[in-house]
Amino acid sequence: MKKLLLILPFLLVGAVIIMADDDDEHGHHGFNKLGDVAVANNTVYQKECGSCHFAYQPGLLPKRSWNKMMNELDNHFGDDASLDPKTTNYLKNYLIQNSSDNSLEYKRSKKITSSIASNQVPLRITKTPYFIHKHNEIPKKMITQKDVGNIGNCVACHTTADKGIYSERDIKIPNYGGWDD
Ligand code: HEC
Ligand code: HEC
Repeated sequence: MKKLLLILPFLLVGAVIIMADDDDEHGHHGFNKLGDVAVANNTVYQKECGSCHFAYQPGLLPKRSWNKMMNELDNHFGDDASLDPKTTNYLKNYLIQNSSDNSLEYKRSKKITSSIASNQVPLRITKTPYFIHKHNEIPKKMITQKDVGNIGNCVACHTTADKGIYSERDIKIPNYGGWDD
C-alpha cells in the first residue's frame, strides 16, 4: 500500500499529460491564427543562432533553460558557441522575453511549459516531456537516415517550421512522405 501511495502522484501526472493532449486533433482543422509558436524574426538571433542549426524559436523552451544555456555558450553541447558579452546579453534578453513561459498564448509554448517539472532545466527541446511524447512513435530509421540525421533537425520534417507551424499536415519526412496516425 505504501508503495502504491508513492507512485500514485506519478500516475496522476501521466494521466493529466495524456488528457491535456486531447484537443490536439481539432487544431488541424480549426483556424489557428497564431501558429504553434511565435516566429523567430530577430535578425541578430537568426544570424548568430541559426548558423550551425535551425534557429529554434525561443517559445520552445522556458526562461530558465535559455538563461542557463546563454551562461555557458563556451561549452554548448560540446561546441564553442560563445559571442561577445554585448551580443550574448542582447540575445539572452530576447530569448527570455519570448520564452515558452512568456508566450502562453501560443498553443505549443503552453504545452511545452506545462510538461516540464518546475525543478527541471532542460537544455534540449528534444528532451522536454511534451516533445518526447509527440515524437516517440516515429520509427528510428526515419530519424537516423542521412536526410534527417537527428530529431533536433526540425526543418527536415516540418516544412513550415520557420513559420512557427508544426501541424501534422505540414509534416513531410524525407523519403517517407506525410504523417498520418
Ligand atoms: C558553433 C555551432 C553552434 C552555434 C553558433 C549555436 N549552436 Fe546550438 N547547438 C550546436 C550543437 C553542436 C548542438 C547539439 C546538436 C546535437 O547533438 O543534437 C546544439 C544544440 C542546440 C539546442 C538543443 C537542440 C535540441 O536537441 O533540442 C538548442 C536549443 C540550441 N542549440 C540553441 C542555440 C542558441 C540559442 C544559439 C545562439 C546563442 C546556438 N544554439 C548557437 C551548435 C551550435
Ligand atoms: C523525423 C521527423 C521529425 C523531426 C526531425 C521533428 N519532428 Fe516534430 N513531429 C514529427 C511528427 C511525425 C509529428 C506528429 C506526431 C503525431 O502527431 O503523431 C511531429 C509533431 C510535432 C509537434 C506537435 C504538432 C501537433 O500538431 O501535434 C511539434 C510542436 C513538433 N513536432 C515540433 C518539432 C520541433 C520543434 C522539432 C525540432 C526540435 C521537431 N518537431 C523535429 C516529425 C518530426
